[in-house]
Amino acid sequence: MFKKVSTILAVTAVSTMLAVGSAFAAPITIKFSHVVAENTPKGQMANKFKDLVAERLGGKVVVEVFPNSQLFGDNKVLEAMLLGDVQIGAPSLSKFSRYTKSLQLFDLPFLFKDMVAVEKFQKGPKGQEMLMSMEKKGIIGLGYLHNGLKQLSASKPLKVPADADGLKFRIQASDVLAAQFVALGAVPLKKPFSEVFTLLQTKAIDGQENTWSNIYSKKFFEVQDYITESNHGLIDYLIVTSTEFWKGLPDDIRVEVKKALDEALEFGNKVAAEKATEDRQKIVDSKRSEIITLSDAERAQWVEAMKPVWGEFEEEIGKDLIDAAFASN
Ligand code: LMR
Repeated sequence: MFKKVSTILAVTAVSTMLAVGSAFAAPITIKFSHVVAENTPKGQMANKFKDLVAERLGGKVVVEVFPNSQLFGDNKVLEAMLLGDVQIGAPSLSKFSRYTKSLQLFDLPFLFKDMVAVEKFQKGPKGQEMLMSMEKKGIIGLGYLHNGLKQLSASKPLKVPADADGLKFRIQASDVLAAQFVALGAVPLKKPFSEVFTLLQTKAIDGQENTWSNIYSKKFFEVQDYITESNHGLIDYLIVTSTEFWKGLPDDIRVEVKKALDEALEFGNKVAAEKATEDRQKIVDSKRSEIITLSDAERAQWVEAMKPVWGEFEEEIGKDLIDAAFASN
């Protein structure tokens, strides 16, 4: 009798524990930290990812998005990811050189003619290989996201490279971008994205390079009198996670999270294409900043001035990668 009662008690205790355990099993939290505004390709993509995960994995996985450098700036996010303080980041391809030299490829000036060429290269074998270029450092690339081609903004009109001589430009933390401005006789300053507006407003710097969506959403056009439509380079992103986090996810969850992410990236790429046109137009309509279009002869001068940068970085990046990227044009 005593044995029977104690068995019943034990079974009841175990089932209660199981019930409590499953009812209160904490969902897996994915913190996604980025630096841009929510009305940008990256901001929209991150929110879409959050919504898709909530829809499909609600209760099991929760995505928390931190835009506008609220949680970490791009100079800290990779470190934070490796420490487990965030699980997903999406820095621009210009911000990985501490971990791999190969991604510097994307900073070479005038490498891609348009976003079709960028897409073709990223989807091709070399582009796909590059997703895993930091695996040994504990970082996995989950996919590329577009923003678009960069324009040059400044406090004075830039028509030919000589106009940039002696001016101070904010750049992302990239040696290739530094070399690009040095090649123009300008002074590059590596600064976090979150500081750009104030640096421009206070005239601590003369100019910067960025995409239409970043120039619009962060109001750079309100503090820069001129924007040269140069399309001289690229800002795209690598969506990254830590190997430890990714491999630690249960298989079924990892598959679903990746599916949601791929769909969100597709959506983000559409937003990127739209914003490149829409945000440019909003800047034109604002009449706050004059857009300078280049003649073929003027553009050729920019290409000639910046192109020597390719040779400087050919060995670090790899000629095979440069050739493959250029061939996608
Ligand atoms: C920048 O720092 O200018 C960009 O990389 C910001 C971004 O994430 O688009």
